[in-house]
Amino acid sequence: MSPTSRCLATYTLLVLAASACTEQSSQCPQAQGLIGDGIARFSPDDVACESIPASMALMEPRLIEGGIPADWQTQPTFTTDGETRRATIAIEEGTSLYGTGEIAGPLLRNGAVTEAWGEQPFRQPPPPGVSPFEYDDQTPNLYQAHPWVLGVRADGSSFGVLADTTYRARIDLANGIEFSARAPFPVIVIEGPSPQDVLSKLADLSGTLELPPLWALGYQQARWSYTPDTRVREIADEFRARSIPCDVIWLDINYMDRFRIFTFDQETFPEPAALNDYLHGKGFKSVWILDPGVKFEPGYPVYDQGLEGDHFIRKPDGELFVAGSWPGDSVWPDYTSPDTRNWWQAYIPDFLDNGIDGLWIDLNEPSIVTPPGVPFPEDLLHRGGGDLPPGTHARYHNAYGMLMSQATHEGMKSARPERRPFLLSRSNYTGGHRYAAMWTGDNSATWDHLYWSVTMTLNMGLSGQPFAGPDIGGFFRAPTDSLYAHWIGVGAFFPFSRTHTVQLSPPQEPWSFGPQVEAIARAAIERRYRMLPYIYTLFRESSLNGLPVWRPVFFADPADPSLRAEDHAFLIGADVLVEPVLTEGDPHAFETPSGIWREFTLVGEDPSQTPELPVLKIRGGAIVPLGRVVQSTTEPLLEPLTLVVSLNAQGRAEGGLYEDAGEGYGYQTGDYRLTTYSAQQIDNTVEVRIASEEGDRERPERRVDVVVVTDSGTFEGSGSETSTIIVSLD
Ligand code: GLC
Repeated sequence: MSPTSRCLATYTLLVLAASACTEQSSQCPQAQGLIGDGIARFSPDDVACESIPASMALMEPRLIEGGIPADWQTQPTFTTDGETRRATIAIEEGTSLYGTGEIAGPLLRNGAVTEAWGEQPFRQPPPPGVSPFEYDDQTPNLYQAHPWVLGVRADGSSFGVLADTTYRARIDLANGIEFSARAPFPVIVIEGPSPQDVLSKLADLSGTLELPPLWALGYQQARWSYTPDTRVREIADEFRARSIPCDVIWLDINYMDRFRIFTFDQETFPEPAALNDYLHGKGFKSVWILDPGVKFEPGYPVYDQGLEGDHFIRKPDGELFVAGSWPGDSVWPDYTSPDTRNWWQAYIPDFLDNGIDGLWIDLNEPSIVTPPGVPFPEDLLHRGGGDLPPGTHARYHNAYGMLMSQATHEGMKSARPERRPFLLSRSNYTGGHRYAAMWTGDNSATWDHLYWSVTMTLNMGLSGQPFAGPDIGGFFRAPTDSLYAHWIGVGAFFPFSRTHTVQLSPPQEPWSFGPQVEAIARAAIERRYRMLPYIYTLFRESSLNGLPVWRPVFFADPADPSLRAEDHAFLIGADVLVEPVLTEGDPHAFETPSGIWREFTLVGEDPSQTPELPVLKIRGGAIVPLGRVVQSTTEPLLEPLTLVVSLNAQGRAEGGLYEDAGEGYGYQTGDYRLTTYSAQQIDNTVEVRIASEEGDRERPERRVDVVVVTDSGTFEGSGSETSTIIVSLD
């Protein structure tokens, strides 16, 4: 049966709207029509639907549920120009554009021309004093590929458009939205009353992140590389001796034996399990790096076994593709094949058995190390398998990091079904947040990069990836004392909060910049730990509805045009506004959303005296749950629980706290507690009580401290959580 006649048959049977089915089979994975509530797929009609590559961004194929309504607002127009396929989407005046994934520059993307093509930046010759690998706001593409644009119209209503292709896609926002690629692709359009609604619908399609283990939300310390193992112990000891909270120490490539993955250097890391025991004993977790490049070395088991199973990428002539990675000549697993993903996963249990807690996968755009700047040839062949047909590297390049993330994530899960995997990946693709968190790659120790680390994290959240953050302090070059202090001041709040730096750079631990910066860094990190219950609650929310943890200020009022370009300040969740100093010596005039926003503090800090620590404001009407300062999440956070209350104009406030074991999957069968607290002013007192609760987890006997922030000062009270706590405003 031809696609058309099959379509008509389906039409007759299911009485679907005819417009969805004129040319294409509604059962074809890329057919045009409604694929969800407020979600439409448009496909070019000059190619058979079946010959358009199936989506890799969606969790599962979405079949047509109905025709596209005649009044559907956002419609792409498809055109062809030689081999180039284009989809253009006109936008109304006053529409603000965001998203486009991992790109440096301002939050607002109108006018930008970028590319969805995962690549390690390389510029030859670089500007003076700059490494060829450094990126800036002129770099059109970075390590991740997200061909997605979020639009917010003048009235605050919103839409999102996804060019549903893994081929290299140009995103031109100079005049409306134009996607182009050298292969036909559909465009998925999401319509919604607000940007929040559109992002939740994107999550319906591409999934949500899995709730991370609590420790992965603590502060983390890395460098390329802490070596030998005694140095790792010293770093851990130093954190504890100086009482600077920290949950994770990171192990970069030097732990390996000659950079061969799944090995340990026998001189510098002879006993990784003993090292991890030591770290665990001090309340740390450890995350160790893996690269996809496998040393081309007969006799090295990973190479031999990979060759035997035919797991490496080959050239069109059938020869192995060999190029330079850290260990020298290397070959690369072909993660498009389910057999290869299984083969890769099989190394993970033994590796984790050394007491390793989390994994970090890098260079998986994939990138060649030597000679630098040489791309993977696009005619390399991938085997595919399962749902994926064989294809060229041009087709699968953008998906390589996601498939490696999937293989690694699933490998971690099957190796340790009782633990939640924590995986960080440099490269990824739309939907890859289901498997891995991300960092913004090899940034630089400059003030511009401090600013971009905020805008990039926000735009990643608006592209569906809520778990993101930069190398705090910058990777290339060395930060000044003032830059590091400002960066850790805001950086302690990033969804993913880790300091990291390049090899041979000066030390970049929080104490490396002298006592003054150390005190600021300690306060900054202590603030994160106090805020952790709130941040964890937001991660839980995100795991359910796909909303970002860090949100742009315009989320507070999407219809207010004055907020659209505000990208120095940001919101954590809906209730905490953060106003950091991101520019040296040039005070920024913040746009504040309407309504009540009251300043509050977390560890008795005074941001007017320490501009490195952002000003924090709580929304009127909100209750924000806080923990106490701990050195790591191995200590109980909520003894006591603090509730910061900020009443609205009606004298009321409300807020939630999500709690569970912080690890494992008990929460999926009821072992959690979601408490909604409410506060109400009655004369000169504020009464705080539990308004509702959910989950089977038992409530411990604990003290609750209430801090009511008002325009005329702060008032405190304390009591048991299960009774009403009364705070006097006198
Ligand atoms: C890459 C990573 C960086 C890491 C280095 C060595 O440059 O982006 O984070 O430190 O490789 O593994």
